[in-house]
Order: sequence, then C-alpha cells, then structure tokens
Amino acid sequence: MKRIGMLTSGGDCQALNAAMRGVVKTLDHSKEEVEIYGFLDGYKGLIYGKFVMLTGKDFSGILTKGGTILGTSRTPFKTIQDPDANGLDKVAAMKQNYHKLQLDCLVILGGNGTHKTANLLREEGLNVVTLPKTIDNDLWGTDMTFGFQSAVDIATGAIDCIHTTAASHGRVFIVEVMGHKVGWLTLNAGMASGADIILLPEIPYDIDKVIAKIEERDKAGSRFTIIAVAEGAISKEDAALSKKEYKKKLEKKVYPSVSYEVAAAIQEKTGREVRVTVPGHMQRGGSPCPYDRVFASRLGAEAGKLILEEKYGFMVGLKNQEIVRVPLADVAGKLKMVEPDSTIVKEAKLLGISFGD
Ligand code: F6P
Repeated sequence: MKRIGMLTSGGDCQALNAAMRGVVKTLDHSKEEVEIYGFLDGYKGLIYGKFVMLTGKDFSGILTKGGTILGTSRTPFKTIQDPDANGLDKVAAMKQNYHKLQLDCLVILGGNGTHKTANLLREEGLNVVTLPKTIDNDLWGTDMTFGFQSAVDIATGAIDCIHTTAASHGRVFIVEVMGHKVGWLTLNAGMASGADIILLPEIPYDIDKVIAKIEERDKAGSRFTIIAVAEGAISKEDAALSKKEYKKKLEKKVYPSVSYEVAAAIQEKTGREVRVTVPGHMQRGGSPCPYDRVFASRLGAEAGKLILEEKYGFMVGLKNQEIVRVPLADVAGKLKMVEPDSTIVKEAKLLGISFGD
C-alpha cells in the first residue's frame, strides 16, 4: 500500500491533469494498492490540511482537460519560511500534515518557485517526486516543460490572426507574449508565425535597430511589420540600469507593459501607426495540444515508476527526447534561459528576423 499526496502549485498550464492521470494510471496498472490525497490549491492545501481523497476514477476522462482538478495558487518561496498571518510555521505545518497522514511521498507539479519549495521539503526529510510544468519552459534540467507547446500553439495562432489584419492596413503590430523573465515562448511563437522582429529578455533591444528593420521592410515594399515582444523584454538602456533604478522606473508605470513602450517609441520616431495586442492568460488556457498530452503522460509514467521503486528526490524531465530523472537539488533555483548565441537564435537571424540587437 502506498499513500501519496499530490498537488499542483504556481500558475496553471495545459496538461497538468494529463500528467497527474499519467502518474495514477501507472500506479493503478502496477496493481499496487494506493491511497491518493489530493491537496487543494497548491502548497496551501498541504499547509492547512485541505485535501480530498481520490481514486483512479477521478483521473479518468481528464487527459484533454485544461487547468487542474486540484486547483492551484502561488505560495512564493521567498516567504515560505515566514510565519503566516496567524503565526503558523508553514514548513512545519506541511511536515506535520505529511506525517499525520502517513504519506509515503508527495507528487508535486510546478515550475520554478514550486521546485524551490519542493527541494526545501526534500531537505526537511520528506519524500518528493516532481513534474515540470510551465508555459515559460524556463525550468533547468529539462529540455521542455509541459504546457509550453500548447502555449506556443495559442500564441502562434494569435500572431497568425494579427498577420492578416496588419497586412490589410499596412500597420506595425506588436503582439506581447507571456514567458515571465525568459523568451522561449516568444521565440518559438514568433518563428512559427513569421514575425519580422522578436524582442526577448535575454537580448536587450536597441529601439533604433527595431526601427531600422521596419524601414528596411518598407523599402522592400512590405506594408506591414509584425513584432513579437516577450513580456519580459528590455531595452539596452534599461538593461544597463541597476536593479534598484530599473525597479524605480517600473514603479512610475508610464506604460502598462514593455510593448506599449516600444509602440510609443516607434510611433514617435516614425509617425507609423502601431497597434498592440496582448493575448495574456489565453496562452495558459484550454485543452493541451497532442504533444503535451503525450509528453505529460510520459512524465507521469516515469514519476509513477519512481514511486513504485521508492526512489525519491527527483524531477522527471526530458533530455534528447528521452524521459530522465534529474536530482531535485540540481534543479531548484536555476533558470533555463535562451542563450543569445544559441543555434536557434542564429538560425532565426539567418532567416532575416531582427532581435533589435
Ligand atoms: O509562469 C507562467 C506565467 O503565465 C508567466 O508567463 C506570467 O508572467 C505569469 O505566469 C502570470 O502570472 P499570474 O497568472 O499570476 O498573473
């Protein structure tokens, strides 16, 4: 008999349910008797002992369902060791609930912040197995996170739609893509939709270079330009500021986001009509794409195998198309960013895409 606690933490994404289903199907298929404690709304459920008892049936029919059947919330790592509003020690509470329920392990699905807390729980002596979710694809130790490909599909679709209207009106269009502090989603959606300019957090842009690309297109007879801007994109001037100075600048909130700042600068310097579209949380919603369904199921199967083998302290991930086990201690606290001199960036440049650098 195995007693498993399961939770999904941080921003949701597609294929969370598919991944949990993969874990449970693998355990069920092994004929091992299991009790599943589904903690509600991420770490909050574990802290405050809020859970539901689940069986294999609860995971049936959810392969294609977006969101998470367990609910999720953000429980920032930087405050996880601080007491809550009522003075409760959150880490101690999680350990207490784990031991009270006599769990054999926790199955935790999450991104960067979630993995830092998962690793802390491992260091505190709890058995933990994790699965990498996030549309940002910024988790170290895995070539891909589930949710990413589904979000690429949606962001690509949004830019595709903008393409036709931009062409009709001869406008410059900016589409702002999610991804937090990394550019994976923007880079992939931008390339997939034929964006002319892609601005990423990892490659600070020079607005004059962005304008030069628009003018180059004008001269070549292209009436419109599509710019895919990562929500975390940053100008060369801002990248040169200290953290404190940059924070101060953002606090002034002259523009709702970097895309509006880029739009205003282009408009002012060229007199061109610029429009901004922000697909936002749409990128995290809806049904997982087929790739994510397969990928999350594979990760779930390997996580289930780890539990059956009683091997804990690992994240399951993808390396060179194979599912691998990565020590949690290696994953926690590291960000996987787009390398400015990576082959994909070089290839994009060969295609004529400008990064504004
Ligand atoms: O981490 C996933 C993500 O969607 C990021 O791309 C984005 O910056 C952030 O979450 C948005 O967070 P929230 O859902 O809390 O607004």
